[in-house]
Amino acid sequence: MPDIRLPILTERLILRRFEASDLDAFHAYQSLPGTARFLLREAKTYTQSMETLGRYANFVFEKEGDWICLAVDSQDDAGLLGEVVLKWLPGVGQAEIGWIMAPDARGKGYATEAAQALLKLGFGELGFHRIDAKLDALNTASAGICERLGMRLEATLTDNWHYKGTWSTELIYAVLEDDWAGRNGETTPVEQPMQTMRARRPAGPASR
Ligand SMILES: CC(C)(COP(=O)(O)OP(=O)(O)OC[C@H]1O[C@@H](n2cnc3c(N)ncnc32)[C@H](O)[C@@H]1OP(=O)(O)O)[C@@H](O)C(=O)NCCC(=O)NCCS
Repeated sequence: MPDIRLPILTERLILRRFEASDLDAFHAYQSLPGTARFLLREAKTYTQSMETLGRYANFVFEKEGDWICLAVDSQDDAGLLGEVVLKWLPGVGQAEIGWIMAPDARGKGYATEAAQALLKLGFGELGFHRIDAKLDALNTASAGICERLGMRLEATLTDNWHYKGTWSTELIYAVLEDDWAGRNGETTPVEQPMQTMRARRPAGPASR
């Protein structure tokens, strides 16, 4: 697994590995229909929350299809605020970012702050080239995060999804490593664990 050093501290947050003791707080927001409104699945049952938390707590990040799943915790002892995830997509240097916050933790910029730290991990330490976010066009809160992160709206796929009884338009936002590094004063890493892995595989989408 690439070297993912946890926890990650931001100005107000701690991004860390999930633990069994997070279950009740995790289920409290994962079980809400409002949380799942724009997710391609339903709200979680307690059993599903247990299963998901187990996977999150034990995540490994070694190959395409793997996820980094981080608990977003507050530095002032408020407890679990939500989660941010990064999925290693097929191809070379491609990843997808996602976020869920508990209702009480919304409207404070926490999701943007946590996602910013995850982009830093994805580009700065793991060496991804492009990170995207896929969302329902009606999910304006999620689009707001993408905009605040400086992600570019690259695609509007009309009625590309059908879920929860209706057609939905998918938006794809993305940001490239160079754009992110330029805006954040970061230099492109010379040699990173991900780059070492990529070098072992043929270049281009056909490598999937
Ligand atoms: C998507 C989701 C995480 C967005 O949460 P959010 O609270 O709107 O996002 P942030 O934490 O970045 O907070 C931004 C809001 O806090 C405000 N804010 C307050 N203090 C802030 C600060 N210091 N920095 C940035 N924003 C701040 C912003 O103005 C913004 O409010 P606005 O939308 O009224 O303009 C949340 O709605 C959610 O969990 N939804 C359910 C799951 C979901 O749909 N996930 C995404 C699937 S694609």
